[in-house]
Amino acid sequence: MERTPIAIVGCGGMGRRHLTGVTALSHSDFCNVELVAVCDINQKNAEDLADEAKASLGTRPRVFTSIADMVKAMPEIQGADVPTDTGSHHRAAAECLRAGLHVMVEKPLAITLRGCNLLLEIARESKKILSVAENYRRDPINRLARALIDDAAIGTPQLMIETSIGGGNQLFITPWRHQKFTGTVTLDAGVHNADILMYYLGDVETAYGDARLYEKYRYKTTSGGPGGFYAKWADQVPDRIEATGEDAMFGFLHFKNGALGQWIFHHAGHGLPQHSRYVYGSKGSLTSPGDRNGRPLKLHFDGGVEISDERILDYAPSYRLSPLAAQLFGGERVWTYSFPFVEIDAKILATEYHEFAECIQTGKKPEVDGQVGRRDTALVYALFESGKAGRPVTLDEIESVKLDAYQREIDEYLGLVPVPVKS
Ligand SMILES: NC(=O)c1ccc[n+]([C@@H]2O[C@H](COP(=O)([O-])OP(=O)(O)OC[C@H]3O[C@@H](n4cnc5c(N)ncnc54)[C@H](O)[C@@H]3O)[C@@H](O)[C@H]2O)c1
Repeated sequence: MERTPIAIVGCGGMGRRHLTGVTALSHSDFCNVELVAVCDINQKNAEDLADEAKASLGTRPRVFTSIADMVKAMPEIQGADVPTDTGSHHRAAAECLRAGLHVMVEKPLAITLRGCNLLLEIARESKKILSVAENYRRDPINRLARALIDDAAIGTPQLMIETSIGGGNQLFITPWRHQKFTGTVTLDAGVHNADILMYYLGDVETAYGDARLYEKYRYKTTSGGPGGFYAKWADQVPDRIEATGEDAMFGFLHFKNGALGQWIFHHAGHGLPQHSRYVYGSKGSLTSPGDRNGRPLKLHFDGGVEISDERILDYAPSYRLSPLAAQLFGGERVWTYSFPFVEIDAKILATEYHEFAECIQTGKKPEVDGQVGRRDTALVYALFESGKAGRPVTLDEIESVKLDAYQREIDEYLGLVPVPVKS
């Protein structure tokens, strides 16, 4: 199978996790990428990731601290996977595109809608692929949920309730996830939920909502982040940080298909944590177990009927995983699975890489392309901008930056819009 030479640009926690995705792909029958370079402005992070790649893949990618040097030294590189921190996507991904590389950038596409639009424009001009590494929807359980909805298992969708409450005053993985100018948690993690909401029910037309910063100070934990991948940087994290970015958002959504949505993302929640996802339709309801845990979905029908075992597949005749996902998860119609988190994560990331290389090789459009990534980012900011405007907003208004009262300060800070001169 043809193997597309790629580089990882951004060798932090997610860069390390992406390497596990390349590794899972390389151990499958469908490997279509070759990791030939790693790049990070922090040389130690890049060197460490190259060492990890040598251990897991058998060959050590070349190490760079600048995208320009990398592209000059290795013109054979075709694609860049860009898991740099959220506030730098619009710069790092833009530099890769301008240097002639296809790009798969981590979610969110960019820190603001102006950043998203900039990347879309550069990708269009350079005629390069712009893919967004949105992983939650690729979980087989979410693929099955989507098939159940499409196959009308619950009838016509009427309401989706997406709730995520918890986090208290603990620092979430890295300090930058609590700062307005670097991509605060509501954007950084909330964009996953935005993608799932629209993956399940299609585009949102209007949103009414608000956002809050509840926890002014955040305190370091001993968790090591998802999968423990961030433990190696733990001594660089202060015991306490002052937060500037909103940590909670609340929204009421109108989907284009007529369904309604209630979305709570409260990452400063104390007391009872809640992570739940329900879709109600004209014939029944669907309960999702959340993402990357492999637990089964549940269908409920009137009269107390619950379907939460293999029979659920009868309600989703169209459900089929891709050949790679089927091999990694143990079948093309998987309804539950059980692996450690780190393995689940790697398998899902492997499917992202595979699709990216396939798009480069065949010209196929990525599932989560720049437009979808922008729409996901817009749904998050719709709640922020609605709160500022005091009215429901359309996603079109957000995508076209007709409303930017919240984001303008970030754009000015990052040079995405000129700073007004004070007289
Ligand atoms: N999909 C998921 O489940 C998931 C999970 C975690 C993180 N992420 C995303 O991955 C991205 C990275 O998050 P993280 O937790 O790894 O951050 P991080 O802070 O651990 O790592 C970011 C790395 O990027 C490097 N970097 C910054 N600017 C660069 C540039 N211009 N060129 C090269 N390297 C550069 C930094 O030096 C650092 O090593 C974020 O956008 C985040 O939202 C996604």
